[in-house]
Amino acid sequence: MIKVMTVIAAAMLLATAVADAHEGQHHDKHHVDAHMAKLHKMMPRYAKAQVLIVTSLDKGDLKGVVKQTDYILSTTADLKKSTPHKNVAKLKDFQGIVSDFERDVTVLADSAKKGDLQGARAAFASVAKRCNSCHETFRAEVGYGGAASEVSG
Ligand code: HEC
Repeated sequence: MIKVMTVIAAAMLLATAVADAHEGQHHDKHHVDAHMAKLHKMMPRYAKAQVLIVTSLDKGDLKGVVKQTDYILSTTADLKKSTPHKNVAKLKDFQGIVSDFERDVTVLADSAKKGDLQGARAAFASVAKRCNSCHETFRAEVGYGGAASEVSG
């Protein structure tokens, strides 16, 4: 019995050590991995684009909307190639969300270009949902960039 306990305790210690090692590695990797760094750089700019879209929609400034959708659409190929550090195993899902996101942003851009404010508002609501659904699964940190966790339409 004592032997079993010792083995279990040893196994637990080992598990903790492995977890710690992984944690350390995780952080180093976080800083050097270009794909993750890309995400980190991109997202605050997305938050800004989102605010500018909301403001433009409020003012009925559809040109302002197109400026931001142009920007977002210029980045989605990169977004698809980037790697979140949470749920990395679900990379296919991540890429799928990027495709849906891209499609919704395109609908938003097209509505704005047509001068369809109502359509643009509806499309933006879907875009904002994509931001949130990706964050739900792939965004590790919670509690900063509040705009992202509470993306409103
Ligand atoms: C396909 C996935 C995906 C989509 C779509 C997405 N995000 Fe993110 N976002 C992430 C991930 C992953 C993180 C965490 C980044 C990290 O830890 O480096 C993040 C983080 C953020 C952050 C916090 C800043 C940071 O670097 O951690 C903000 C703000 C943000 N996103 C805004 C947005 C907005 C606004 C949209 C929609 C217009 C959006 N995101 C769409 C995946 C996504």
